[in-house]
Amino acid sequence: MKFRFCGRSGVQMPVVSLGLWHNFGDVDDFKVATDIVVSAFDQGICHFDLANNYGPAPGSAETNFGRILRNELASHRDEMLITSKAGHEMWQGVYGDGSSRKNLMASINQSLKRTGLEYFDIFYSHRYDGVTPVEETMQALIDIVRQGKALYVGISKYPLDLQQKCYDILREAKVPCLVSQYRYSMYDRKVEGGALKCAADNGSGVVAFSPLAQGLLTDRYLNGIPEHSRAARETGFLQKGQVSEERVAASIKLNEIAKKRGQSLAQMALAWILKDERMTSVIIGASSVEQLNNNIKCIDNLDFSAEELSQIEDILKDPVLSF
Ligand SMILES: NC(=O)c1ccc[n+]([C@@H]2O[C@H](COP(=O)([O-])OP(=O)(O)OC[C@H]3O[C@@H](n4cnc5c(N)ncnc54)[C@H](OP(=O)(O)O)[C@@H]3O)[C@@H](O)[C@H]2O)c1
Repeated sequence: MKFRFCGRSGVQMPVVSLGLWHNFGDVDDFKVATDIVVSAFDQGICHFDLANNYGPAPGSAETNFGRILRNELASHRDEMLITSKAGHEMWQGVYGDGSSRKNLMASINQSLKRTGLEYFDIFYSHRYDGVTPVEETMQALIDIVRQGKALYVGISKYPLDLQQKCYDILREAKVPCLVSQYRYSMYDRKVEGGALKCAADNGSGVVAFSPLAQGLLTDRYLNGIPEHSRAARETGFLQKGQVSEERVAASIKLNEIAKKRGQSLAQMALAWILKDERMTSVIIGASSVEQLNNNIKCIDNLDFSAEELSQIEDILKDPVLSF
């Protein structure tokens, strides 16, 4: 595994991290989930990304991860970076959603209980909810660190106009933002419009979620929508309509470039993000150990020639590809 320092901090992250949004809930096979986590850890993926609402049922990914940890990896806690988040709808009533202090404080207690952890390495505000002043949300994160429930804090999906304010408040309190999490892939490049630069200027690491566009930037959909794939599953967040003709055609072309590089499309899509040194890590999802093993190998070639980059740009320039 390769590691990068997370922004201007002393903490390193593996360039490939594992996310537990899909495939680790109660609806999923616990044996497969266990194999993926253990295999990831064995190969140097020591950063695991959770959130209170991951499942389904919401919360079950944290519960299952806690079980896997206790059953298989109990003696390795200090070799791991484990994160969780709060901010999306989780429980009933007005306090179960949003970015208020009330929600974050209750949520971290619930997440610690579900996972059985004494503390999270990083706790994120999962989103700006459009209402709560960022002063309130950031103060909750600061207090969570002061209470010893998390070592570091992060922000996820914050709009550019509030991102700087979050960094300023956190820095002032001497709880600097360790990491900022944004969706970033060949099919969603909005962060290139300023969020990446703002994070780097402020010493925050950046991690990309859904770097494979939920599977569209792999060979998963090159010949239709397979049974059991995320787009086919009732509980999957990838809509069938998002597997559009245009995206599939573009992925087929990108796959040809990947083959010439001696990579799978998934490996090239991950390497394409990591070519930018400001990116600390890509948080991948995987529904099998095979997918995980394939994706990890992206680290063998993170360099692109100018010609490859220009061929890729040429394919990506069509605006209908973007989410
Ligand atoms: N901060 C936020 O708001 C936020 C939002 C979303 C996600 N996240 C984080 O980011 C993580 C990753 O997101 P994601 O799951 O959307 O990431 P992704 O890596 O873009 O997509 C993962 C999916 O792609 C398919 N796949 C992966 N590798 C493959 C391969 N080698 N060949 C064929 N198919 C492959 C699998 O789908 P199949 O099921 O079809 O096999 C897999 O479940 C999440 O788990 C979560 O931790 C954060």
